[in-house]
Amino acid sequence: ATRYTGLIDRYRDRLPVSATTRAISLGEGNTPLIKLENIPALIGKDVEIYVKYEGLNPTGSFKDRGMTMAVTKAVEDGSKAIICASTGNTSAAAAAYAARAGIKAFVLIPEGKIAMGKMAQAMMYGAITLQIRGNFDAGMQLVKEVADQAPVTIVNSINPYRLQGQKTAAFEVVEALGRAPDFHCLPVGNAGNITAHWMGYTEHAVDPLHYASNRAVYDPSTDAFSGMAAVQSRPKMVGYQAAGSAPFLRGGPVADPETLATAIRIGNPQSWKHAHAVMKESGGWFDELQDQEILEAQRMLAMYEGIFCEPASAASLGGAMRDIKAGKIPEGSVVVCTLTGNGLKDPDTAIQQCSDAVMLGIDATLEQVKAGILSNMD
Ligand code: F0G
Repeated sequence: ATRYTGLIDRYRDRLPVSATTRAISLGEGNTPLIKLENIPALIGKDVEIYVKYEGLNPTGSFKDRGMTMAVTKAVEDGSKAIICASTGNTSAAAAAYAARAGIKAFVLIPEGKIAMGKMAQAMMYGAITLQIRGNFDAGMQLVKEVADQAPVTIVNSINPYRLQGQKTAAFEVVEALGRAPDFHCLPVGNAGNITAHWMGYTEHAVDPLHYASNRAVYDPSTDAFSGMAAVQSRPKMVGYQAAGSAPFLRGGPVADPETLATAIRIGNPQSWKHAHAVMKESGGWFDELQDQEILEAQRMLAMYEGIFCEPASAASLGGAMRDIKAGKIPEGSVVVCTLTGNGLKDPDTAIQQCSDAVMLGIDATLEQVKAGILSNMD
């Protein structure tokens, strides 16, 4: 038996690590690709929809894939502290992997605008939390500035090792399906993850056996991913934003991003150019969803499939369902939606939108329990 020990060990030959690099790992990756059984019939279209449930990573989001790489390399390079700005998931992952490595984590989060579970994680894992009276974009700017003046390694997705770790999700999808999907849908904030997936699909398509020699690198001079032209069998990449935080739909930064999906409350994406290159090369598109649509998709997934993701994550499925209904994603397609974070991250938003959930207050008697059952059997 071989025990699964995380994605660096699993994909060591396809990542910028050596045979002797000590992996800082919590067993991240290897998440399930779950086929939806009820929702395709509900939307009345003949499509295969799979969800990649990244909420089952050790800290409950896809950020663990990037963080195992970023912290592994920071430690290898002798760093004693890491820093990030975050809407809550990056900070949770940074805090956990720093704890694992025995180094310090400093996390900048927008005061009052991160979900409760994520706040609990930063505190429990022992990060030093700097709550800023400002949004993610302001925090990101500060992190970039302070890194020149203090001995800290940035572990936001502008750290190139982050995307290297995150590209492994695409490897897993191809391995699970035996092919690339036709469409891969993701929620978009900074656009790091959609970029990382494209790198992963591209490397796999070019040379499934010798990834290390074919790394997909974004080249600003050509505005393309180097040496990767004319590769077949990659998905169209589709990125969904929350309407109040949709710089890719507005064509430029949004000064005051707002959305209930706080994870993607971002107005100035760091991987702006990369994401546009991804769209051009893959033939995909960006679209936006109202908060209400995001919440409906989140609840539908929970009620009809038994899968609980956080609001931002549901943007991928909500957008895909709309584009499938409209025929933009045609019947017969194989569609993968990434569920970036676990629903337990944000219990407040979940409870607030379930005001119509069946919840009875009863006496602790057999009679009243029985009545509760029988009155709800239809
Ligand atoms: N979904 C979730 C649950 C996220 O936490 C994030 C980003 C995204 C989607 C968007 O991914 O930025 O690569 O386009 N969260 C970051 C954070 C910003 O700080 O946790 P992206």
